[in-house]
Amino acid sequence: MNKKFTVKSFQNAKNKGDKISMLTAYDYTTAQLLDTAGVNSILVGDSLGMTMLGYETTLEVTMDDMIHHTKAVSRGVENALIIGDMPFLSYHISIEDTIRNAGRFIKEAGAHAVKLEGGFEMVDKIKALVAAKIPVVGHLGLTPQSVNMLGGFKVQGKSEAQAQHIIDEARALEEAGVFAIVLECVPSALAKIITEKIGVPTIGIGAGKDCDGQVLVIQDVLGMYQGLQPKFVKRYKETGQDIIEATKAYINEINEGSFPAEEHTFGIKDEILEKLY
Ligand code: KIV
Repeated sequence: MNKKFTVKSFQNAKNKGDKISMLTAYDYTTAQLLDTAGVNSILVGDSLGMTMLGYETTLEVTMDDMIHHTKAVSRGVENALIIGDMPFLSYHISIEDTIRNAGRFIKEAGAHAVKLEGGFEMVDKIKALVAAKIPVVGHLGLTPQSVNMLGGFKVQGKSEAQAQHIIDEARALEEAGVFAIVLECVPSALAKIITEKIGVPTIGIGAGKDCDGQVLVIQDVLGMYQGLQPKFVKRYKETGQDIIEATKAYINEINEGSFPAEEHTFGIKDEILEKLY
């Protein structure tokens, strides 16, 4: 029997040198499968804007979108720790607004924690959330909600100044009370330094193997996305191709009349049929 993975389990894993596994999920069925497989944590990422809703960036995602998908995920999960990703402008306006929106993930949607993007500018919000007993995951490096400020989806922290800035921000987030930090698209040697320098676990995506854990987008892992993929993605299956082939087979069988077959159909007694007019 699997055991529930909690905020405390994140810290225990880092202390013991055990790796933490995290995947995104946005719906009941997928969440149930990932939980059955034993993933430690499920992130209901605002990447659902792209993977589920077909937007080009995450910027259009709303709190209501996030709550809707987080509710579905939490219905499918028994053991994994569920993290709700705070969407663009749900935590930028005021501390009050931030607590209200983060609280919705916990009260309405069944999440155990929230994630938000940003460094020094988020310290007050993180402290307020932790004071409100809402566990927080930070997110540094490539922060997709800042795509317009960053000038595109690029590796972050390659210059000395940028790299030092990310280290300093990681320290500030730890001090503010986050229980983990996602490091996205930073050089692996920088992620290693951060992982060694801070006490809370780092969860990497495009940040190398020395992070305390890893996260990927489930559509990428399953090979469902047909377009170009970032270098850090590993496709463990080609489910997208399987779906196309299964759909083609279904269409063919309908056209040639071999589906539905006898075993897929329901009967009715002859004496009842005879009475019908
Ligand atoms: O939204 C998301 O899926 C994320 C992960 C890629 C870390 O933030």
